[in-house]
Amino acid sequence: MDLHALALRELPRPPARVLEVGCGSGELARALAADGYDVVAVDPKAPAGAIFRQTTLEALGDEEPFDAAVASLALHHVDDLGVALAKLHSLLRPGAPLVVREFGWDLVDEPTARWDYERRGRAGGLAEWQAEHEDLHRFAAMRAALDAHFQERSFEWGPYLSEYEPREGQADEERRLIESGAIRAVGFIYVGVA
Ligand SMILES: C[S@@+](CC[C@H](N)C(=O)[O-])C[C@H]1O[C@@H](n2cnc3c(N)ncnc32)[C@H](O)[C@@H]1O
Repeated sequence: MDLHALALRELPRPPARVLEVGCGSGELARALAADGYDVVAVDPKAPAGAIFRQTTLEALGDEEPFDAAVASLALHHVDDLGVALAKLHSLLRPGAPLVVREFGWDLVDEPTARWDYERRGRAGGLAEWQAEHEDLHRFAAMRAALDAHFQERSFEWGPYLSEYEPREGQADEERRLIESGAIRAVGFIYVGVA
C-alpha cells in the first residue's frame, strides 16, 4: 500500500492542517508538507524539524485544531487505546477524517504465520507469531476504540505482511495467496470522521 497515495486520496486538499500520529522516520509527513499541507507529526522517535514533535500523541501540548489525521501502524503500539483515541478526537475539527492503516496480528492463522516466516527465511508458525506479537493491541480492541470516537466512512482488508522486511515479488505473492484463500488478509485501512 502506497501510504502517500492513500493519504492524498482521503485527505482534504492542501493547505489543510494534518496531524500524523506515529510518524517514525517522517517520510510521509515530509511528503505531505511538500504537497502544501500544514503538517504536525508526533512520535517519541520523530526526527528533528519544525513539523515534528518528539513526544507521544497523549502528551502532545496545545495545538490548533486539525482538519485531518493519519496514523500508520501506530495505534497497535499506544499504551491505552481509549486515551489515545479520545485525545486524537479532541484534536480534530468536527467532520475531520482520520485515516488509519493497521494490521490485526491476532487474525493471523497457522498457514499465514508459516508463510510469513518462510518468506523471511525464518522457521516459525502460529505459536512463534503469537509470542512475538502478544504485547500489541488486537484487531477487535482497535476497532472498538475507533468506533467509540469516530464514525466509519470506509473500511477495507488487504495485504500487509509483505510490507514488513519486504522482498521482491512478495507483495504480489501475498495478494495471490489471499485471493486463493491460502492465507488471510490481516492488513486494513479504516477511514472515519470525528
Ligand atoms: C511501526 S512504527 C510506524 C512508523 C510509520 N508510521 C510507518 O508506517 O512506517 C510505529 C511508530 O509509532 C510510534 N508510537 C508508538 N506509540 C506512540 C504514541 N503513543 N504516540 C505517538 N507515536 C507513537 C513509535 O515510536 C513508532 O515510531
